[in-house]
Amino acid sequence: MMSLLESGTLFLTLGIFLYGILYFSFFREKNNQKISKGILFFRNNFVRVIAGLSLFAIIELTTRNIHHILFAFLTVVLPVAVLNLVAALKMDKLTEGEVNDYRVGYLQNNWSDKSYKYLQSKDWDNTVFKKVHESGAVKLSTVEANPSVIVSVSANRAQHELSLFHRLKENYNVKLICMDANNAKDQIDEVDQDSRFIYLDGDRDAFNLPAILDEIQIGQVDIILDKKGALWHNSKKVDTFFEIAYNKLSPGGVVIIDGSQQNKVLTRLSFLYYQLFRTIIYPSELSTLNKIEGAIGSGSFADQHFERIDAGEGIFRTVIFKKKH
Ligand SMILES: C[S@@+](CC[C@H](N)C(=O)[O-])C[C@H]1O[C@@H](n2cnc3c(N)ncnc32)[C@H](O)[C@@H]1O
Repeated sequence: MMSLLESGTLFLTLGIFLYGILYFSFFREKNNQKISKGILFFRNNFVRVIAGLSLFAIIELTTRNIHHILFAFLTVVLPVAVLNLVAALKMDKLTEGEVNDYRVGYLQNNWSDKSYKYLQSKDWDNTVFKKVHESGAVKLSTVEANPSVIVSVSANRAQHELSLFHRLKENYNVKLICMDANNAKDQIDEVDQDSRFIYLDGDRDAFNLPAILDEIQIGQVDIILDKKGALWHNSKKVDTFFEIAYNKLSPGGVVIIDGSQQNKVLTRLSFLYYQLFRTIIYPSELSTLNKIEGAIGSGSFADQHFERIDAGEGIFRTVIFKKKH
């Protein structure tokens, strides 16, 4: 039987060797593009597996023998490495820095379409609409001269927004304005058909909301929607986002974000599945609430200036932040 030191060294050498092969084969610049964040994700996971198994090896080796470690290596590290490899091979377009790129040819392209189809299969729009309505937190205008202004700051293809607009336009007087940092207006058929539904031209950063609203001569808005968008991608700028929203919201106005409650293991697995097969079988990303939870606690801008109201549950949960003063 090998000594603890010998077995540990063998295990680590095997791990580093395999990692090295993967790194030099697939994780380096490919087609003159930088390492993709998607690939980094897999690489980091791989490192985590190695680190976890090394720890396991050290504990295991104090009492048992090398065969347990080789077994773990073959059953855990190798399959993960193979999955990483397949995923890495499939990702030749996405580059770091462009991980937020939803244009044709990039991994995220069609994400919102696929996600929308998945959510539609669960009757998501209807259920969320009903739950938000039942919460009583959102009041909409019926006065023709004074429409409620709804701004979706990260609308992408605006599927949810169009569906919302169709629901609202018969009973309320609303103006729904969409924008996005990666404008997807040209991918929407049904736009410019009703002057109350507007998709702003150009790439618009939600953090420039005041200037954007000035440009279209809108002083205040009643509802800001941000579903897996600006906050999701900028979880370090949560206070700034809420401060901007606060200054632009009318009294009692709201920010609404997604707060889907989902199983973390299934989320991980379905994310991996999406990376490999580009199909959503379960919510494959954390919700915006998950992403920003640490930044909206006691003492945060959101906590001090907004009342939090949760509407719905499970994948249908949304979180409404109602302006306090
Ligand atoms: C995952 S998609 C979600 C799209 C849509 N809200 C949905 O749920 O189907 C994320 C969107 O957020 C947009 N986004 C990211 N950061 C943004 C920012 N700072 N301002 C505006 N949009 C942003 C991206 O361009 C992308 O269209």
